[in-house]
Amino acid sequence: MDDTGAGRFSTENEAAAFILDEIVGYMYAAALRAAAATNLADHLRDGPRTADELAELTGYAASAIHRVLRLLATKGVFSEQEPGRFRLTPPAAALCTTAPISVRAAVLMMTEPAMWRSAGEIVESTRDATPSFDRVFGMPMFEYYARDPQAVAGFHDGMAAWSDVENGPVAAACDIPPGATVVDVGGGQGGLLLEVLRANPATRGVLFDQAHVLGGNRLTAAADLADRWQPVAGDFLDAVPPGDVLLVKRIMHDWDDPTCVRILRNCRAAVRDGGRILVFDAVLPAGDVPHQAKALDLLMMTVLPGHERTEAQFRRLFAAAELSLVSITDVHAMPVSILHAVPA
Ligand SMILES: C[S@@+](CC[C@H](N)C(=O)[O-])C[C@H]1O[C@@H](n2cnc3c(N)ncnc32)[C@H](O)[C@@H]1O
Repeated sequence: MDDTGAGRFSTENEAAAFILDEIVGYMYAAALRAAAATNLADHLRDGPRTADELAELTGYAASAIHRVLRLLATKGVFSEQEPGRFRLTPPAAALCTTAPISVRAAVLMMTEPAMWRSAGEIVESTRDATPSFDRVFGMPMFEYYARDPQAVAGFHDGMAAWSDVENGPVAAACDIPPGATVVDVGGGQGGLLLEVLRANPATRGVLFDQAHVLGGNRLTAAADLADRWQPVAGDFLDAVPPGDVLLVKRIMHDWDDPTCVRILRNCRAAVRDGGRILVFDAVLPAGDVPHQAKALDLLMMTVLPGHERTEAQFRRLFAAAELSLVSITDVHAMPVSILHAVPA
């Protein structure tokens, strides 16, 4: 087979049919939304049930539940144990609200109208590589979320759920010196900072984000960390609180290059002598290699001014912010890397 995959198809019909399979693929994401919104996984926690039983429990239509689960089961999310009777599988269990690592809120966030409608307008974004979001909703995405308490809660709960999947492995892969003050820049609800403080007992933390986001933080409820952290509200486009280790996770991909350089320069000004800046983002592989970030990159194109980056693009950003890239560390089994930078 050559690099273009031409050898996969023995006829033109097969090659064309491949595109048809791909284009109906978005209904899989829609089915995940339906399952998450109707809490089907929660209702299967105690054992398999029929679509009729699930309809009784949820108030939704049995035939529709059957059709949603039947599609999801084609990729191992739920399984049709016997005709019309479904059970949880490990990925389906991650849709339960009480799962140790629940992705339910992340599914709802990624498929909510703000994202979905913007992605639907991708042709307009392709014209000039600017976000459809601003045209559809009349304002930039973070401004929209700042104005609507319900939408903002959905976004940050979803973002936190997404990050829960990677925070443990990311924290384990971080090198944090004892005694360091760790600042999580744009840290959202603080899931990463929580893991980092627990993994590094002799450290202190600062959770830095916009004021309306900090109210929903998770560290307040963590009694074991009571004296070890503080929330700081602010705008990372203006300034960043001082610290020894600055964490910048899934921030760069939200912004265009000049804005990233501005944020990184503010980080450079905030990092104490001998300190480090740890940027967590995907590093795009070259060529045809599949990577989750190649899809997230198009989401960024439609909702925000940002994009995912290659190593060379990160190097240029750091250089423009007078930072040296010391190393890039992959995070085990996660589509995110740690870019370790210091003042040049
Ligand atoms: C994609 S989320 C990443 C959150 C978190 N770092 C994580 O990995 O889950 C981007 C974060 O940047 C924050 N943010 C956006 N604009 C900001 C600004 N001007 N100043 C500070 N934080 C900002 C958002 O509130 C949000 O928490």
